[in-house]
Amino acid sequence: MTAPCLHLIAGARPNFMKIAPIVRALQADGRLRWKLVHTGQHYDRNMSDVFFEELGIPAPDVHFNCGGGSHAVQTARIMEAFEQHIANDRPDAVVVVGDVNSTLACTIVAKKAGIPVAHVEAGLRSGDMAMPEEINRIVTDSLSDWFFVTEPSGVDNLRREGQAEAKIHHVGHVMVDNVMYQAELLGRSDTTGFPTDAVKRELQANGGRYGVVTLHRPSNVDDAANLAAIAGALKTVAADVPLVFPVHPRTRGTLQKAGLDLGPRIHLMDPQPYMSFLHLWKDAAVVLTDSGGLQEETTALGVPCLTLRENTERPITIEEGTNHLVGTDPAAIVAAARQVLGAGAPPARKPALWDGQAAGRIVAVMAGDLL
Ligand code: UD1
Repeated sequence: MTAPCLHLIAGARPNFMKIAPIVRALQADGRLRWKLVHTGQHYDRNMSDVFFEELGIPAPDVHFNCGGGSHAVQTARIMEAFEQHIANDRPDAVVVVGDVNSTLACTIVAKKAGIPVAHVEAGLRSGDMAMPEEINRIVTDSLSDWFFVTEPSGVDNLRREGQAEAKIHHVGHVMVDNVMYQAELLGRSDTTGFPTDAVKRELQANGGRYGVVTLHRPSNVDDAANLAAIAGALKTVAADVPLVFPVHPRTRGTLQKAGLDLGPRIHLMDPQPYMSFLHLWKDAAVVLTDSGGLQEETTALGVPCLTLRENTERPITIEEGTNHLVGTDPAAIVAAARQVLGAGAPPARKPALWDGQAAGRIVAVMAGDLL
């Protein structure tokens, strides 16, 4: 009998760091076959290819070019391409990660074709239906057959939604597997070629501190007035501590259209490869972000994080980790930054099972069920 085959779905930048440890765990376990499907949701070299190279992900077996477009257009294109793909090459199960449009699109198509779906990073809920990701999470979880959960809130949410206990597996977090693996690798790497290295050296000269910013949530960056308000707060913070800001394509669009100037103490850069960015943020005095993943990665490495959103689907990072939910009111952002910079990093606990072994647990469950 040939081994069951999983198709792993990778579409957008935040998927790639979750796929890498799953691939490693499948290789180490050796009992299941697998293929990698890239939907092409993210397509720029610096949003996609560099991540495959640096994170050691093999080239995708299949690549659709489904990037750009509105949500409906992007989702529909991925659904069409994936339906055709599984009609020719039917997997025994599909593995989706996170909450991007590719996650949603492939889940719906697989289920309608009668193929079971495993959702990695299941059960997270922000309660905010204005977030496209929240809709993607709810639909994906309403259809999935395996829920691989990162934190206790995810288990509670799935139970509340009536999911069967046997489908819920609290395994820890594959993204933490990845950041631990890459941080260890970084310790042995020559960092001098990284685009962030020169700016980091300059800012750290004479014991200097710096902060790191990322922003890309539509609610923060699509509207020029919202982005201008946050930019004003960042300029005030930057008067205390210089900031480095790798700018997402969505955000760059609004900054340019609105002609927003962030001043001389906020250093703007292109989106960074994983290792160059890790080299930068792991030694930051504070990270200001609206990313989901970075809230967790900063907790994993004990770096103070201010989340510029009104809610988070990752409450463990606040309860046990280094994250503070600050919102987007400019005065609140400035006050929180001053507080964190004045207090130094608080001692933080690592959430349960955030130990670098989550992907191995996932593969063990799936192999146990499929073989
Ligand atoms: C997507 C995910 C979000 C994730 C984010 C990380 C959804 C609903 N959102 O948002 O959860 O946190 O990725 O980046 O899936 N673009 C480029 N080059 C690229 C990719 C995108 O120029 O390589 C442009 C697109 O054409 C579009 C904009 O950036 O104009 C946004 O891209 P899109 O994939 O629609 O969503 P993100 O905002 O990146």
